[in-house]
Amino acid sequence: SRLGRLPGRQDWSSWPHYEAAAAGFRGYWYPVAYSSHIGGKPKQITLLGEKIVLVRDGGRGGSVYALKDRCPHRGVPLSEGNQQFPGTISCPYHGWTFDLATGDLKAAITDGPASPICGKVTQPTYEVAERLGMVWVFVGDGEDAPPIDEQLPEELVSNAAVVGSRIQPRIGNWRFACENGYDEGHAKYLHRTSLWRMFKAMPVWNETRIVQRGRWIYRVQDKQYWDADFPGLGTWSNQAWYKLKPPKKVTNIGNTGGHREVNPVIAAQEFPGFASVSMPGVLRIAYPTFIHYEFYVPVDADNHLYVGVMAEFRKGRKVLPFYAKYLGFVRWLFHGEFSAQDKWMVEVTDAPPEKLYRPDDSLLKWRKLAEDTTEQRVGRLAGQGIQPIAAKE
Ligand code: FES
Repeated sequence: SRLGRLPGRQDWSSWPHYEAAAAGFRGYWYPVAYSSHIGGKPKQITLLGEKIVLVRDGGRGGSVYALKDRCPHRGVPLSEGNQQFPGTISCPYHGWTFDLATGDLKAAITDGPASPICGKVTQPTYEVAERLGMVWVFVGDGEDAPPIDEQLPEELVSNAAVVGSRIQPRIGNWRFACENGYDEGHAKYLHRTSLWRMFKAMPVWNETRIVQRGRWIYRVQDKQYWDADFPGLGTWSNQAWYKLKPPKKVTNIGNTGGHREVNPVIAAQEFPGFASVSMPGVLRIAYPTFIHYEFYVPVDADNHLYVGVMAEFRKGRKVLPFYAKYLGFVRWLFHGEFSAQDKWMVEVTDAPPEKLYRPDDSLLKWRKLAEDTTEQRVGRLAGQGIQPIAAKE
């Protein structure tokens, strides 16, 4: 039986990399802010426990740069400073001025043009990219950052899409957020009261198996149980309240009942399942006409950013109804009320220890993916003579 395959462990010792990654996995790009929120005024963010200053060189239209947000002189945050000269950032205290691209100390304004400290100090920098209207930062261990497009969901890179997104700082460990997103059981119980669920049906109970394709693992529905009787509790149905009838057709990508049309871009992907997850904590929920993504961005061990992205693959004037739908409806019901139920559970989860049951197979497979992927990365880094930085709390 499926139950027999579950280790039912009380701790996380089967996944040492996963257990150690309380403050996130290094070696990935993370979305940290809306592009429009980063200008010429430096801004501090925390990512994987590291304080980072972001600034857009010259303000509007310039490129965004990221440096460690601690002046090496006396430890003042560079984000308290400003841009005195193009291509640089100056510390507000004594005017040490760093090159944005290289981190080199270009000038110590208060020590004259020939200050001997110049050229002897380099501030650590981070690679930055802008995609989907957001600023992304790579946190690694000194290795070259892989191209961000190799890490983004491939369908977003190669197709025109219109996106609506929400970035929310949330309390709780990023792993609980990721596990919650991919958690099979919660979709059917926790969310049973959400307004979104009235419009987008979810099965009460089903049997799934998990398959890996590329860097994603998918929950694939083997059987669906559209109604369930719980003695003493009555009958639950997965159907939207306004159409209590059997689904016309069950597609392999939807729990959504009888959808006739599938967006051609989504159809072309041939996703094996409705829900999938990939490193470093990205959830993909493929509906027939749009895809919803969640990026769980580790701020530190106790906080994360919830980045919800809804994408429809359409262009030209056809994007207008998307905005109407997103702003008038999806943003509030799905990225709002529905997602707030997840937020609540992530805040109050306290694991390990834990005792798992059949639907937690999805959690175990995700942890295994994270473990194996990290093991491979550690091996790759060793080949380059790089010792990974120990996880921070
Ligand atoms: Fe930054 Fe002195 S603390 S210049």
